[in-house]
Amino acid sequence: MCGIIGYIGKKNSIPIIIEGLKNLEYRGYDSSGIAYLKDNKVSIVKEEGKISKLESILPKGISNIAIGHTRWATHGAPNKINAHPHKVGKITLVHNGIIENYQELKKFLMEKGYTFKSDTDTEIVAGIIDYYYALDEDIHVTLSHLKDIVKGSYALAILVDGIDKIYAVKYKSPLIIGITKDGYMLASDIPAILSETNKYIILEDNDICEISDTLNIFNNYKKIKREELEYLDSYDSALKNGYAHYMLKEINEEPFLVDRLVGLLDKEKTINLKKYSNIEIVACGSAYHAGLVGKYLIEKYLNIKTDVYIASEYRYSKMFYNKKTLFISVSQSGETADTIASLNLAKEHGIHTLGIVNTVKSTIARLSDEVLYINAGIECAVATTKAYSLQCLMFAILVNKCLKKKYNLNNISKHMESLLTFDYKKIANKLYKKEDIFFIGRQIDYALTMEASLKIKEISYIHSECYAAGELKHGTISLIEKDTPVISIITDNNILDKTISNLKEVKARGAYVLIVSSINLDKYDDLYDDVIYIDKINDLVEPILAILPLQLLAYNVALLRGCDIDKPRNLAKSVTVE
Ligand code: F6R
Repeated sequence: MCGIIGYIGKKNSIPIIIEGLKNLEYRGYDSSGIAYLKDNKVSIVKEEGKISKLESILPKGISNIAIGHTRWATHGAPNKINAHPHKVGKITLVHNGIIENYQELKKFLMEKGYTFKSDTDTEIVAGIIDYYYALDEDIHVTLSHLKDIVKGSYALAILVDGIDKIYAVKYKSPLIIGITKDGYMLASDIPAILSETNKYIILEDNDICEISDTLNIFNNYKKIKREELEYLDSYDSALKNGYAHYMLKEINEEPFLVDRLVGLLDKEKTINLKKYSNIEIVACGSAYHAGLVGKYLIEKYLNIKTDVYIASEYRYSKMFYNKKTLFISVSQSGETADTIASLNLAKEHGIHTLGIVNTVKSTIARLSDEVLYINAGIECAVATTKAYSLQCLMFAILVNKCLKKKYNLNNISKHMESLLTFDYKKIANKLYKKEDIFFIGRQIDYALTMEASLKIKEISYIHSECYAAGELKHGTISLIEKDTPVISIITDNNILDKTISNLKEVKARGAYVLIVSSINLDKYDDLYDDVIYIDKINDLVEPILAILPLQLLAYNVALLRGCDIDKPRNLAKSVTVE
């Protein structure tokens, strides 16, 4: 989603803003822009496409105050006119979020004589602030009642003509303030500030910031202080560190992170799932898939009925719950709009809530009654890998704790090393020119293949679908013909024969079959074309092993197709709009 950055201080703001924008690239964007203050004049430069294009047209020179933006189009096409910043009257701003009532506000402003250049909701907010600022004559007053006029979500960084300050206001979209040695920054996310500082403050809804050589935060006209936090991993940990792509780096971090999470939670008191009669897991995308893995583990080992919902559906569904229901939201960013809305709904019904989250103090972390951090560090590739694996691991850890640590989760990394070095290119070569790939699995393996299928389609743009293995013959098998790739995961011995039968059905129709398995398949060697073995350990650990080869396979397929792996088209890292 859109990324915001701002700097005010003793240094030249332009290179800081450009560096910050580059570090926000992973969120996904289609255009970028910057507004800087020089000789009491605001100048705006914006461009469609890559940040390097914007950089190449920026004038040389020094400015100590600037705001910048990467836009991911929601209202209006991805082009230069719609790119931020937008200036209306005395107000120049960048925006992350969505203004729901912008049509109504636009009509109001047009009746007052305003005209607009872009198709964006953002330009309308600039107009609204300008209009009321002219009446209020006090920007603080105007920003304080913005929440009564504008409906939706917004994080705004604002320059006001004639004032050498940056103003910021946020509602339901994340915004942090970075505290540097010689000034302040503001940003949508931590990587944007790390070149200058690791100290930051997380703003809360309806906070209003006035930043000059001092930082003042107000909420409801009261001056307040927010806790100063420190990002403890290194700046390098948020960079590519020599890897060709963030995605590859993040997959390679998995062994270390998996062992670290097991160690971190070893002595920690965590939630006792056995206290609950039923569990509802709510999430989106890959986090939803991790929730499905959680369901299989919780139901199998703890015998607690567990339902998993896609957050955008859950928030509009009829709710069934009782006092012993536990609501778990799973989210890497902790800022996904639909997951937050579902969590709020659960809270309204008085259901106990647990957040399984990566981003420290994110909205979901703060709203949940209890939070468990997966400690994945910053994940920059748009397609999640390490966060997904750690979300699955978190469920395994919680279940194992309820089983009084019956299973050994230590040193999982030693079972992952050989999977990192496997020759995936050979298999990727067989797949990268295909138009369709099918994934099949049963039970927990079905949940895992759903994630594997999503990974391949989102980064390589090959159409891919995932089916419960037994379901294929109810329609989809008509699509299987000679050399159609069918990929399966088999870790569950109890249903091995069943999945094997389904693979026979596709093999008989000429499919190319790849299996990832923890079970020796020598006696079925006429059934598959390729097999990748993972170690047989236990059900709690095997999901984390089984997904790793398919993450790397997806990476290699996308590489051969020349795709923009870290920033797949149309996708954003953190989906802060509905
Ligand atoms: C896919 C992917 C997305 C996210 C989904 C939820 O690779 O990354 O499907 O899993 O957008 O995001 P979070 O976990 O931030 O709530």
